[in-house]
Amino acid sequence: MTGLRLHERKTLAALEKLGGKASVKDIAEKSGLAHAAVMRAALTLSAGNLAKIHEQKWNIATLNEEGENYAQYGLPERRLLRALLRLGGEAKVDEAAREAGLSAGLVSIALGWLKRKNWGVIKGEKCLLTVKSEPPLGVDERLLAAIFEKRSITVDDLSQDFKEALKALKKRKLVELEEKIYRELELTAKGWETVRKGLEIVEEVTQLTPELIISGRWRSVKLTKFDVEAPGPAVYPGKMHPLQQIIKRAREIFLEMGFTEIRGPLVETAFWNFDALFQPQDHPAREMMDTFYLANPCVGRLPAKKLVEDVAKTHEDGWITGSKGWRYKWSGEEAKKLVLRTHTTAETIKYLATHKKPPIKVFSVDRVYRNEQVTYKHLAEFHQIEGIVVDKKVTLRDLMGTLKTFYMKFGLERIEFWPSYFPYTEPSAQAVAYHPKLKRWIELCGMGLFRPEVLAPMGIKCPVLAWGGGLERLAMIELGLDDIRMLYANNVGWLRRTPLCQ
Ligand code: PHE
Repeated sequence: MTGLRLHERKTLAALEKLGGKASVKDIAEKSGLAHAAVMRAALTLSAGNLAKIHEQKWNIATLNEEGENYAQYGLPERRLLRALLRLGGEAKVDEAAREAGLSAGLVSIALGWLKRKNWGVIKGEKCLLTVKSEPPLGVDERLLAAIFEKRSITVDDLSQDFKEALKALKKRKLVELEEKIYRELELTAKGWETVRKGLEIVEEVTQLTPELIISGRWRSVKLTKFDVEAPGPAVYPGKMHPLQQIIKRAREIFLEMGFTEIRGPLVETAFWNFDALFQPQDHPAREMMDTFYLANPCVGRLPAKKLVEDVAKTHEDGWITGSKGWRYKWSGEEAKKLVLRTHTTAETIKYLATHKKPPIKVFSVDRVYRNEQVTYKHLAEFHQIEGIVVDKKVTLRDLMGTLKTFYMKFGLERIEFWPSYFPYTEPSAQAVAYHPKLKRWIELCGMGLFRPEVLAPMGIKCPVLAWGGGLERLAMIELGLDDIRMLYANNVGWLRRTPLCQ
């Protein structure tokens, strides 16, 4: 029969020699092929109706280390029971535990099961037995001993009681279950016909070597045909976490667009996080519900006096900005409080305090914290993509163009800009993108031109385009996730399935 590859012919030949029906293991031995090679050949043979695969499945249970330990020395509750019997039926818990030789971690387990099995009760610090003599071994203990003795046990043959006991041991994490499959191959009528016609078994060359090419021998040898679509074992190499890949891409795109990266500390004073951004000290975002304040140390240092004074004056009455300010008494104490930064805008404004000469194009991709209820779209710790452009004649149009370019380089197609509000920008907007899977528009970032109340104390004379937004939201769109928590879930299955390149 043509079309059969060497492994398939070898498998058929071995099967014939073994009488037409044999286990995969025997065929592997007889043919000298690897187990997996026989299995692959079997799939092809079965698809071509030359052989039939018979499968028998069963489950076996084995003990893990803890299970083996208990099988030898007794379950913790049994050990506690024996210790209490030795101590006359009652004793202080720690005394009984010592007598039983139970480690601290096992005492509560032993007490819990002692109660559940109705062997004893706990009164205050004491433990009292409710049984006079040692009760016989329970089903769970007998099963434990049986598995230990035989090293493994076939679950399917167990009686109902033992099956129940096995469930309990599994719940106590003392046993491991494993499915075993026994496979046999049997020649079909068509298979017999094929082998009777004779199988020509010529060794095939699986690797074309330089030697074969130079000598010209490649012309005469038989080269193995590969089925490139045959299922192979999945390989899961180590790779960068999908979120890290996105962080890296965000960085690369900003660099391509001529930006420089800046970074700052996770802990900032309220001054940089709020005050320098003209957010009044009674702004709701500052409250504990939204912001994580540090308990120890709880305050940090304020910057140069002149800057602090100018910020204070702007808050109080608008200073030289023409604004009326927020009209309250600004407090330095409030501004000194340390917070986990709630946005990376704290870093851009801090940068502006010391870099005033245009043109400036800086960005950051960094962590921020908010006291949020964690949901499918909110995290308490996440990343923001932030940036500013400072130049003499830049406008909102430039800002929209910059962000559109950035997000389009990321591969997003439907981006819109909607009006919005931030205490530190005017005009303010937000960039939104359409999430094809959620079928909703989701917010990408907040943006705007820094207000004069923000710029004057920093001594900046030209317009500043600013924006900041969540990176995980972007990752959700990129990776087709409908739950943001997946990014931090340690879900190996998802990590494996997520391709390195989209
Ligand atoms: N800081 C804002 C936020 O965290 C985003 C923003 C940055 C808005 C800069 C305007 C300008 O949502």
